[in-house]
Amino acid sequence: MPVITVAHTKGGVGKSMISWNLAGAFNGTILDLDFQQSLSHNNDLRKKYGLKPFKVLEINSVEEFLQASKKASLAEWIIIDTGGFDDDLLRFVITYADIVITPALESNTELFGLQTFGRILNDLQGQTMKNVFSCVLLNKIHPNSTNFEVIKTICDADEKLVLMDTIIRERSIYKKSFNVGKTIFETTNSVAKAEFTALKKEITKRLANEIVNG
Ligand SMILES: Nc1ncnc2c1ncn2[C@@H]1O[C@H](COP(=O)(O)OP(=O)(O)OP(=O)(O)O)[C@@H](O)[C@H]1O
Ligand SMILES: [Mg+2]
Repeated sequence: MPVITVAHTKGGVGKSMISWNLAGAFNGTILDLDFQQSLSHNNDLRKKYGLKPFKVLEINSVEEFLQASKKASLAEWIIIDTGGFDDDLLRFVITYADIVITPALESNTELFGLQTFGRILNDLQGQTMKNVFSCVLLNKIHPNSTNFEVIKTICDADEKLVLMDTIIRERSIYKKSFNVGKTIFETTNSVAKAEFTALKKEITKRLANEIVNG
């Protein structure tokens, strides 16, 4: 049961969009921890448009999370979309996850948000034997942009923040497909599909390396 937690204490960075498309990439079960329940609503759209719905569970407490994970099968991929705030449930699913992904935008305002999130990871490290860190995923990046100095500097300064190789660019198709209940894999946009295929590959590789290296 590989568990991917998509988390950032900053809002609007693409947590739900990325969780949604990861559910598409891994044919996973979605655990919706966000009180706005964007993904639960989106799954209703799938039913409306005649698409096969995902398994989406709304989770409001650590107890509910543990119940859901007990029932999951070994082969089932679990994708957790979190709300943009720090609480016990967020901290629990960060520690519990096999991989944590933090979407980040390349901007100066990102600086404080990511540093705050890094402090949460450092806090959590003090409470567990497990190596706690997050894979920072550049999202909503202008298609021509090649300068990622702000994020690179933040990640270099905090060992709990590891910059991913994959970059998700700003593309209207991500919003358009999401708004009609589709994942990117159900569109004909090959460039965007390739981005999420690369992300899937990188996640799989990182998980395999974790297992090999303990
Ligand atoms: N790569 C992208 N290209 C274009 N639009 C994007 C991209 N990523 C996210 N968006 C859009 O940005 C907005 C915010 O994304 P999303 O709702 O996924 O963020 P979030 O982190 O889940 O926000 P919240 O903290 O409110 O839950 C949405 O309208 C989404 O469609
Ligand atoms: Mg969201």
